Amino acid sequence: MRVLVIGSGGREHALCIFINKSPICNKLFCIPGSDSIQEIADCFKIDPMSNDDVVDFCKEHKIDFVVVGPELPLSNGIVDKLSEEKIVVFGPDKASSQLESSKIFMKNICKKHNVPTAKYSVFDNEKKAMDFLDTVNFPTVIKADGLAAGKGVIIAKNKNEAVETIKNIMSKRIFGASGENIIIEEFLEGEEISFFALVDANGFILPLTTAQDHKKIGEGDTGLNTGGMGAYSPVPFIKQNQINDFVIKFVKPVIDDLKHNNIFFSGVFYAGLILTKYGPKLLEINVRFGDPEVQAVLPRLKADLLDLLLASSKGRLDQFRSLEWDNNFCINVVMASKGYPESYEKNTIIRDLNKITVNTSQYIFHSSTKKNEDHWLATGGRVLSISALGSTLKEARNKAYNVINKIDWKSGYYRNDIGWKHLT
Ligand code: AMP
Ligand code: GLY
Repeated sequence: MRVLVIGSGGREHALCIFINKSPICNKLFCIPGSDSIQEIADCFKIDPMSNDDVVDFCKEHKIDFVVVGPELPLSNGIVDKLSEEKIVVFGPDKASSQLESSKIFMKNICKKHNVPTAKYSVFDNEKKAMDFLDTVNFPTVIKADGLAAGKGVIIAKNKNEAVETIKNIMSKRIFGASGENIIIEEFLEGEEISFFALVDANGFILPLTTAQDHKKIGEGDTGLNTGGMGAYSPVPFIKQNQINDFVIKFVKPVIDDLKHNNIFFSGVFYAGLILTKYGPKLLEINVRFGDPEVQAVLPRLKADLLDLLLASSKGRLDQFRSLEWDNNFCINVVMASKGYPESYEKNTIIRDLNKITVNTSQYIFHSSTKKNEDHWLATGGRVLSISALGSTLKEARNKAYNVINKIDWKSGYYRNDIGWKHLT
């Protein structure tokens, strides 16, 4: 089978590595890919946001199956376009992708079916949003409705911060059209976890596993929000009966609501949950794998990833009812350019990366690098992410940091405390 992966980051590097292991993968392509992905897949500099170019590429290269990594091409309707051309594709269509691309769409479904989530109000008018602030408790949470590369959520500690935030989003349009509408919602307290399931077009829901991301840049969960500085899987205190409960409380009512409206979701259902003292509540839904969560999930998967993704696209996920996972924990630590998520120097040298030897339970994934003769250059904010498996979280952690300690990158930064809360 000829497989195309869309995307270029650490998530897609991991997807390519594990898809490439499948005996049914004969040839792997990636759009646009990267120098590191090029080592295992043929990469082509085609814009993933140009649906017509992607379709032409698939026809020209006789692609049998497309796997879409990031949310932007999904919300841009790439799945609809490929499906019209009868090209099999993994991921949700444009209508389903609204679960991620519109927070209001997602919250309204939750409200209709009593899915536990933060109480919220929606505004399309700046003055009304400002007036509403007189009725809320602080901190309060202000969200741009649309996609904002993970930056569209602001926790305002007091009224002044809230006023500033509303102005920034609604009149200064710092998130562009994504800020036409906003949500003001209740601030929830508790530990955050991610839960992943796959869904097929027949509505079959296959729970996968849990992970915990570390969103803040600083150790001890301090400082600015990032795309994720590290993750581990599974979350040790979440038991199988709770996973079943997550499916019933958070996934099924949403999938059923879409179906009722003739929207047939298939792909990854990523539930961002917060475990409050009143029980778990849904913070957000994403419609693709998390980055770096998937780098901590895939090394634990015992099934053939390509076959699993195909099953989601072809409506036969029920064949995977008893999905097996490695008993080990997996931890992933992100290495970022110093300065991220604010400004940072580009094209700094990572020396002799290729000379580092890792064993079969350790992985070096590239998120944003470029090859330069003997070395690699760091080209973005999040640059590398290192995964390791271990029988305890502590062992996995030690093995991941052992690899990191060998990496000679003067301009690199990483958190030393990934997995710190639940070391077992
Ligand atoms: P989201 O993109 O909706 O997941 O929001 C990004 C981050 O903002 C989450 O991972 C949480 O840490 C935080 N957040 C979002 N909504 C809330 C809320 N209602 N209460 C507390 N924190 C929140
Ligand atoms: N790591 C968070 C995300 O992928 O949305």
